[in-house]
Amino acid sequence: MAHDSDHVKRVVKLALYIAKKEGADLEVVRVAAELHDIERGKKNHAIESAKTAEKILRERGYDENFIAKVKHCIEAHSFSSQAMGVKPESLEAKVLSDADKLDAMGAIGIARAFLFAGERGLTIGDVVRHFEEKLLKLIDCMYTDTAKEIAKERHEFLKEFYEKLKIELISEQERKNEVS
Ligand code: NI
Repeated sequence: MAHDSDHVKRVVKLALYIAKKEGADLEVVRVAAELHDIERGKKNHAIESAKTAEKILRERGYDENFIAKVKHCIEAHSFSSQAMGVKPESLEAKVLSDADKLDAMGAIGIARAFLFAGERGLTIGDVVRHFEEKLLKLIDCMYTDTAKEIAKERHEFLKEFYEKLKIELISEQERKNEVS
């Protein structure tokens, strides 16, 4: 799946890298990244994942202050919760949001977009629209300077691929028109 355990592992790694550079709380970031997609697949997965994470951490005996910090990171990490007005307030939440979005950019982002489309039986044209509606906008959603730096290169690659794909799709269409 496009949102699998490999995604979580990459997000943990990226988030810790950004957190170190930005001076964020590493333990909050690590735990939040590990649990951020635990309820992936559910509607409002960010809110649901935050609730489940809260339960798990309480069972493991974490203190309430730590749990609240992790919970905020998870609630505010997704594109859709941010669209609903749940924005990352803490540095740790900004770091998680950045890491999660970076994993939807660059070569990995492209690979994930096609995996996702394949799972749902979508077409290349659907992926092109997904680029326009979401992936090409992610560059403007970065909070930390460290992530902005990584995002630049990943965005350039996304854009290059997207433009090439569109050109080939159009010329393919034109060839079809000529034949018929
Ligand atoms: Ni994620």
